[in-house]
Amino acid sequence: MKHFLNLIDLTADELKLLLTEAARLKDAHARRIPSQSLNRRVVGLIFEKPSLRTRVSFEAGVAQLGGTSLYLPANEVGLGWRESLADFSRTISQYLDALVLRVFRHETLDGIAKVSGIPIINGLSDWSHPCQGLADVLTVQELFGSVSGRTIAFVGDGNNVARSLAVGCGKLGMRFVLACPPGYGFDDKFKSEYIARVSPDFPKEVHDPFAAVKGADVIYTDVWTSMGQEAEREERLKRFAPFQVNAQLLSKASRECKVLHCLPAHRGEEITDDVMDGAACAAFQQAGNRMHAQKAVLEWLLR
Ligand code: CP
Ligand code: NVA
Repeated sequence: MKHFLNLIDLTADELKLLLTEAARLKDAHARRIPSQSLNRRVVGLIFEKPSLRTRVSFEAGVAQLGGTSLYLPANEVGLGWRESLADFSRTISQYLDALVLRVFRHETLDGIAKVSGIPIINGLSDWSHPCQGLADVLTVQELFGSVSGRTIAFVGDGNNVARSLAVGCGKLGMRFVLACPPGYGFDDKFKSEYIARVSPDFPKEVHDPFAAVKGADVIYTDVWTSMGQEAEREERLKRFAPFQVNAQLLSKASRECKVLHCLPAHRGEEITDDVMDGAACAAFQQAGNRMHAQKAVLEWLLR
């Protein structure tokens, strides 16, 4: 059974195919060309954490392709506490054609996928955010015409979003540099997995954001405190303060440099209003691309 749990599981050719298909689906959507590629397919969505982009873009995308989506409150279906993950998975596999899950612990996805009779899609876990990573590289491709050879400076935490994007970059020939406070970089588990499955050339980590953005095509940031890390918020606000993406930082990058953010943004923390609302920022184009990228994933898994 094919799942979409981590970008690291996909080959470079599979990623390129998804990018091509996402671009095709975006164009078809703009021209209002009807599609029934998910006709009579039912896609379930279960979220343990809040979401705007992921839930709405999946539900809208499924509807546009002629399918039906079913939002299932995590507590109501009793995910992880009412019965075992395996029993849950074996049961729900018989009703649905695919299931999107947003979970606290990535192990929840693995436990469900292991015995699932339907494709499982990771709509964000503490480990990765592959739907975001795919939309991110799609956005870079649109902004620059191609992805290969581009440099992304990720200014922030070595988190789920950063891991997925670093893998996408590594597989597609982009350079990824992480600028973060000491102790907030990529963990050893990710490092060994990356070296074994992506490239021996592990992304560089620097502690000077100004050095990181020099020569970058894209400055990327995300919240400093991810969902589930709320207890660390005060400490993180202090540690990450020198890593704010603001006009001063942007002025050290090239004039063509673009700014991306997976959103939601905490304006005034990791990014300032003037950068978010400025000409370099492509975060809303990027948010729109979530839907096109995910439609490509659904067709790839279900066709
Ligand atoms: N970027 C992202 O996944 O947004 P949501 O949390 O709103 O789904
Ligand atoms: N790193 C963030 C991404 C939100 C889309 C989080 O996990 O909360």
